Amino acid sequence: MEKDAVKLAPSILAADFARLGEQVAEAERAGADRIHVDVMDGHFVPNISMGAPIVKSLRRVTRLPLETHLMISDPDFFLEEFVEAGSDSFLVHWEGNPNLHRTVQRIKALGKRAGVVINPATPAAVLEEILQDIDQVLVMTVNPGFGHQHFLPTTLPKIRHVREMMEQIKPGCDLEVDGGIDAETAPLAAAAGANVLVAGTAVFGEREGVAAAMDRLRASINAAFR
Ligand code: DX5
Ligand code: ZN
Repeated sequence: MEKDAVKLAPSILAADFARLGEQVAEAERAGADRIHVDVMDGHFVPNISMGAPIVKSLRRVTRLPLETHLMISDPDFFLEEFVEAGSDSFLVHWEGNPNLHRTVQRIKALGKRAGVVINPATPAAVLEEILQDIDQVLVMTVNPGFGHQHFLPTTLPKIRHVREMMEQIKPGCDLEVDGGIDAETAPLAAAAGANVLVAGTAVFGEREGVAAAMDRLRASINAAFR
């Protein structure tokens, strides 16, 4: 992966919700490529986070694409509500969706970018038949549901495998990783083939502020590719 091709997607799950607009604006000024919105329903994952009203509010304060990671049991039911609120892309899980292709078609019919997410225990091979229909793959590098977890190094060979599949089937597809991305793990994920890195704690959880935290992440990637 070319270092300049690596994009950063700050996850607002780690932001200070009382200052959300401000923090997203800071991330935009610091060169974030997109904003990652984690939606959890307390059923698909054992945690509750946020819904379409947050997307609607953020739409007014940023021009960045809002990517919506749906960790919910019935993604199809909520797509239109999120589109109306201002979501630009959807990341839907392979797990628990017997009609994934239909979900992807619905997202495309709504004119939005579609991505498929696989959990740490899910093999890359499940993507083979859907890859040609999507714009993005998200490899979870922690178990979904919570921020501030440790990156699982066992996901690195899978990232490489997904990148190889993409080169065969869908060159130009984004390969994103999510969970435990920091200055130590970002270069590992990028070297394995990820070109979009989600980071929550490593962007919003640093005392030095969002811009310095993002600079540190970028520097770690640049150093590894020098
Ligand atoms: C976890 C979420 C992640 C989370 C990442 O279920 O999908 O997007 O916010 O947080 P960090 O970067 O703190 O691991
Ligand atoms: Zn996420």
